[in-house]
Amino acid sequence: MKKTLLCVALAAASFGAAAQGQVNVICSVQADWCNMIATVYARTTGVKINLALKGSGEALAQLVAEKDNPKTDVWFGGTGDPHLQAAEQGLTLEYKSPTLAQLYPWAQQQAQQSGYRTVGIYSGPLGFGYNTELLKKKKMAVPRSWADLLKPEYKGDIQVANPASSGTAYTMIATLVQLMGEDKAFEYLKGLHKNVGQYTRSGTGPIKAVARGETAVSISFIHDAPQEKMQGFPVETVTPSEGTGAEIGSMSIVKGARNLDQAKKFYEWALTPQAQQFGAATKQFQLPSNKGTPVDANVPDFKKIKMIDYDYKKYGASTERRRLIARWEKDVNSLPR
Ligand code: G6P
Repeated sequence: MKKTLLCVALAAASFGAAAQGQVNVICSVQADWCNMIATVYARTTGVKINLALKGSGEALAQLVAEKDNPKTDVWFGGTGDPHLQAAEQGLTLEYKSPTLAQLYPWAQQQAQQSGYRTVGIYSGPLGFGYNTELLKKKKMAVPRSWADLLKPEYKGDIQVANPASSGTAYTMIATLVQLMGEDKAFEYLKGLHKNVGQYTRSGTGPIKAVARGETAVSISFIHDAPQEKMQGFPVETVTPSEGTGAEIGSMSIVKGARNLDQAKKFYEWALTPQAQQFGAATKQFQLPSNKGTPVDANVPDFKKIKMIDYDYKKYGASTERRRLIARWEKDVNSLPR
């Protein structure tokens, strides 16, 4: 009898979950955070999250490929420039969240600039990661500026991601163009190319390689370093003295989403302080966009960093982003190293 009751209860629970539906999410932050929100959301709402993990550039490519028959409902995280490009290309849905007023101005601006087709969920500055032990062993100095990275001593010992797949790497290109002017930035990137040992697919690949002693230096979002350090790896970060850019990690609802009502509910939840805390809970230390979300001590202090006034609208425009990545492929990546 007891067993039957249990079966009925379980059947009812699973039926309840099925009846509550599902949301298909492309997630462009690190896997632990994606898995945590999927698990918590399913447990608390009964709604299943089907996750696909993809870098920012790859996520955009997927939305383009699915345009006529979207399989994705929400794109969570990843750098903001490709989210803006998706908005401009009409791949994402206009949606004005009632929660917008609770967000920092930079997150609201991201929404305004996209015609409310995306929103800022976090921000973080670009910088360098380095392996303290490896630098010491190889008698290399800590790089403190963009200019330092061109020094011959770092030859083969710098990693950065490929801008076609990684939003982190595109943020670097856009930052350098804004700092130096486009032609000088490309001359710089050619010089850097000589020192790059490997271009990785994912934006976090280089800092993980630094942590494990596979390369001495990475160009990375500095909020990706503390979790490596917490695992005991000898990693430190620095931001370049000339100035640097930041990402506005974003979230968008896909136009034509099959599970639209559920997509909106998930989106609203993801903007709450309760949900945003799962970033730091999974050791990812971006600055959360909701003013009510507690800020972990590991989150970089923007006030101490020389930041450029990154023009998100310009560098998130599709013609600009496509053009800069194509120029990088042609003028830089094609060169021998
Ligand atoms: C990491 C960072 C995020 C960033 C993302 C971009 O997950 O923690 O802040 O948005 O990388 O990934 P990508 O592979 O596109 O550079």
